Amino acid sequence: MADKKIIAVLGATGAQGGGLVHAILSDPDGPFAARAITRNVDSDKAKALAAAGAEVVAADVDDVDSVKKAFAGAHGAFCVTFFWEHFSPEKELAHATAMAEAAKAAGLRHVIWSTLEDTRRWVPLDDDRMPTLMGEYKVPHFDAKGQADHVFTDLGVPTTFLLTSFYWDNMIHFGMGPKTGPDGKLAITLPMGGGKLPGIAAEDIGKSAYGIFKAGDSLVGQWIGIAGEHLTGAEMAAGLTRALGQEVHYNEVSPEDYRGFGFPGAEDLGNMFQFKRDFQEVFCGPRDPAGTRKLNAELQTFDEWLARNKSRIPLE
Ligand SMILES: NC(=O)c1ccc[n+]([C@@H]2O[C@H](COP(=O)([O-])OP(=O)(O)OC[C@H]3O[C@@H](n4cnc5c(N)ncnc54)[C@H](OP(=O)(O)O)[C@@H]3O)[C@@H](O)[C@H]2O)c1
Repeated sequence: MADKKIIAVLGATGAQGGGLVHAILSDPDGPFAARAITRNVDSDKAKALAAAGAEVVAADVDDVDSVKKAFAGAHGAFCVTFFWEHFSPEKELAHATAMAEAAKAAGLRHVIWSTLEDTRRWVPLDDDRMPTLMGEYKVPHFDAKGQADHVFTDLGVPTTFLLTSFYWDNMIHFGMGPKTGPDGKLAITLPMGGGKLPGIAAEDIGKSAYGIFKAGDSLVGQWIGIAGEHLTGAEMAAGLTRALGQEVHYNEVSPEDYRGFGFPGAEDLGNMFQFKRDFQEVFCGPRDPAGTRKLNAELQTFDEWLARNKSRIPLE
């Protein structure tokens, strides 16, 4: 244990970071030890991580000094921000900056920054194909992450930039599962047209991050995209139909309609899906499932994910 390299993991009680902590703990002969960072070391999830063998430490990304302490003595860190907790791209940028500063102060050898594309590179603010949101963003929860990439490079932090994909788990936790429409039929609703949506089992993000830490220096300075599969809405509906044993349709709507659904974040997600639909090569290109499998041999396909998780998908 003593000679293991410590990986400090932000969001350790959540989807991405939790997957990484479990990947490290599942490889007891591997080179790394997991330091799980949480705001509350007494929560049930934090206690479960400690019981499973992780070192659990407290920090809050609103407090850069606490992150510095949590990173001290570590070899690497997994950095992720929490847009859906506060809906503020400015906060994401500030939190990413705090993480980069803490990584620099701790002299970390390898950081993974869980980022996404700054869509304004392809859809400038004056492009009226999609509305500008919050004053200066097209896809707020993407743009600020991509904007933060340079913070890590500017400080000279040895960083791998991890381009994640749509979690299939959104069908369990984010209200994106099949719903019964006015015609009485189950359908998933997406504004993707016939475009392919790169998707992934959330736990495979952490497992892939583990593969990146194992690969080490060779992946520093690179942007690595990950996905389990690229599927159209119709293909996802067909997979759900097979898994659930009842017909699920693909309800294709326009991004305009999706933006108008009115739930918190609907406009952001409407723009996000439109970006993914209209920039297929930009978005799907870097997220190669075959490359992801080289990092994570246990990578799940959609069918495999459904076989394990179908009973957890609420059917409304
Ligand atoms: N859903 C998707 O399809 C998708 C796809 C790609 C990227 N993303 C991005 O993923 C990010 C969220 O990651 P996730 O899904 O792994 O998160 P998550 O499952 O919601 O977990 C977030 C964890 O972060 C911790 N946390 C929250 N605020 C914190 C703070 N101020 N300081 C320290 N820790 C804090 C919480 O742990 P404690 O309560 O224990 O402190 C929580 O368990 C978002 O930015 C989102 O945009 C999502």
